[in-house]
Amino acid sequence: MKIAVIGSTMMDIVSYTDEMPQAGETRRVNGFHIASGGKGANQAIAAAKLGADVVMMTAVGDDMFGEQSRRNFQDHHIDMSLVKTAEGTSNGIATIVVDATGQNRILINPGANEKLSPADIEAAGEELSTCGLFVLQLEVPLETVYAAIRFAKAHGIKVLLNPAPASRDLSLDMACQCDFFVPNETELSILVDKPVDTVEQVREAAESLVERGLTNVIVTMGSRGSLLVTSEETQLVPSLKVDAVDSTGAGDAFIGCFVDTYARTEDVLGSMQRASRYAALSVTRKGTQDSYADAKEFAAFLDA
Ligand code: RIB
Ligand code: NA
Repeated sequence: MKIAVIGSTMMDIVSYTDEMPQAGETRRVNGFHIASGGKGANQAIAAAKLGADVVMMTAVGDDMFGEQSRRNFQDHHIDMSLVKTAEGTSNGIATIVVDATGQNRILINPGANEKLSPADIEAAGEELSTCGLFVLQLEVPLETVYAAIRFAKAHGIKVLLNPAPASRDLSLDMACQCDFFVPNETELSILVDKPVDTVEQVREAAESLVERGLTNVIVTMGSRGSLLVTSEETQLVPSLKVDAVDSTGAGDAFIGCFVDTYARTEDVLGSMQRASRYAALSVTRKGTQDSYADAKEFAAFLDA
């Protein structure tokens, strides 16, 4: 099953610090790097590293970072026929600060990502209709996300929507047409306007979406695990206890591994279990895409 990731590409500008600066303060950091990111690209790279057949639909900048992003897709054997360069526009940039506990704070300048349009979906119809699964996030215009969902529904293609970053503007009617809806607890809470302090509350919040027609709601809850809620069952998949070094892109690692596994097995719970281990491994390493294991490394981790 070929997977189309329709979403963002960013260049991540990352600093590691023991303490966050206060307003007006200048601090020296412990480390720094620039690396490929963006929720869409991260998910595509994770799946591709694991061996999935991935086509990436995205808009990169008309600059050095756009070129670097293209090379990155190429190096990971991703089908780039739907990667466009947005003329006269800079690449998406994420300014990221990671603290001593591995938690991150992210500021985004979408740049070229704003230029991925519903017309691009239309124009790519022939290629997209050969895919079995679409993977979407919210770092490109909502209209483009909706166009992708409509296209998938019209062509019998399965859709996974990761509603990240959180947006109150997302239409729940559109979201409920997806086969898989994969928020973290914060995104879920913002969308359905319900508390998510306990796993029971998360379940209730997810159930409100199942009642509106969603087939599979999968809530990623970091160290609390991930929760599957469908009209038939609720399953909690515990997460591995690990020493967190850098949790940036852990949600993307989960989704990349989930779709890779699902595309081969169509086993939802089994895909979640594998994805949860893959995300845990990524958290123990610095970086985002650089912290994603390839198939061989991941197999060794699972055997250990
Ligand atoms: O989910 C992590 C990603 O969010 C980072 O790579 C950054 O680019 C932002 O989009
Ligand atoms: Na990491």
